[in-house]
Amino acid sequence: MFPSNFTWGAATSSYQIEGAHTADGKSDSIWDVFCRKDGRIKDGTIGDQACEHYERYADDVQLMKRLGLAAYRFSIAWTRVVPDGVGAVNQAGLDFYDRLVDELCEAGITPFPTLYHWDLPHCLHLDGGWTNRNTALAFADYSSAVIDRLGDRISTWTTLNEPFVSANHGYVTGEHAPGHTSRAEGFAASHHLMLGHGLAGERVRASAPDSRLAIVLNFTPIAPATASEADAEAAHHQNNLENRWYIDPLAGNGYPEDTAAHHSWDQSEVLDGDLEIISAPIDLLGINYYTRSFVSADDSYEVPDGTPCNTMGWEIHPPSLGWLLRDLDERYDFPSLLITENGAPMPDEVKEDGRVRDDDRLNYIRDHLAEVHSAMEDGVPVEGYLVWSLFDNFEWAWGYGPRFGIVEVDFETQKRTPKKSAEWFAEAIKTNQISFD
Ligand code: FCB
Repeated sequence: MFPSNFTWGAATSSYQIEGAHTADGKSDSIWDVFCRKDGRIKDGTIGDQACEHYERYADDVQLMKRLGLAAYRFSIAWTRVVPDGVGAVNQAGLDFYDRLVDELCEAGITPFPTLYHWDLPHCLHLDGGWTNRNTALAFADYSSAVIDRLGDRISTWTTLNEPFVSANHGYVTGEHAPGHTSRAEGFAASHHLMLGHGLAGERVRASAPDSRLAIVLNFTPIAPATASEADAEAAHHQNNLENRWYIDPLAGNGYPEDTAAHHSWDQSEVLDGDLEIISAPIDLLGINYYTRSFVSADDSYEVPDGTPCNTMGWEIHPPSLGWLLRDLDERYDFPSLLITENGAPMPDEVKEDGRVRDDDRLNYIRDHLAEVHSAMEDGVPVEGYLVWSLFDNFEWAWGYGPRFGIVEVDFETQKRTPKKSAEWFAEAIKTNQISFD
């Protein structure tokens, strides 16, 4: 059994499900623009329609209610709220989130909004995006507009989703919008994202003093691929970049110095006082976990044949989640942890009766929940589990190929059909325990 106050829920993000890319004054985000560029998205698709959640949100909330979700994590599109990135607030864009939050409250589902899940206004990108310090200031102002409008119904405000992925995939590897490939830009972006978190956090404290402040970070436990010294060193720096770069400054430890030096980052973007702003206490750490990874100095490591993987080639390794939770608790001791994303794309097959019997996904979720439960028994303060994702949706650079949903979406008809994993999850919620039959 999980504790009676354990929070069961599901997560999505604005660009991945909303569609309605020009509705009610919304401007382009970096993802709208990125997807239109040839070759950026594996299947050449775009989030213009996605799950049409913008129009279908009321039915979608009813579906969440039928599944028994206690919490729903979604993100707010900055481009709807402040289309010019800075300045005038677009009330019509905020109206959508106002309606969504009302609908959730009415259904008895706790709204769990994230202020930034990667869809930066394109106009801010033209001024340097996250490499420009002003973007952090603009993020705080945009956050204020959202908090002022929705704050009376929100108990936890989350600033950023996975700043590592924003900075690394967006500015270093170029896999994600805006598609740049510069290590220096990546470091600048990482710091401005964290500054944005800190500044938005100040707004939460000032305008919504009774609510909690959270950030969502992704973690991928990393080990060297071989016993060689070179692999050990490569793994060490990768671990610093991926797993410690954001949590360390949050916890008041600054950026990992040896890795900053290793990559010749002089930290010139870090101005006096920034690290204090960034390390102001949070109430809750959101954890996104999918897989572990092995690192080799020459990049030659490949997941061995026969390793259980999802359809994106990510190893399925539930024990790493248990290890991660214990390790984070021991090292950082945040007051509360929440699994804000965990799930898997699987080779779903819609049978003649219209059903997806996704035992592989069900097992993935169940085995990870078992790890959460065991870590909690060891005293790790995990308050809940939000599955990624409620719906099949637009999976960034992969397009609509990988299906992460516990609810199947037919993108032709927009029909939603709960998969077997959704039914299992609903039963787990109802009984407050996981079944292994
Ligand atoms: C995470 C993202 C989320 C989704 C999953 C699969 O990195 O936060 O939007 O794409 O991966």
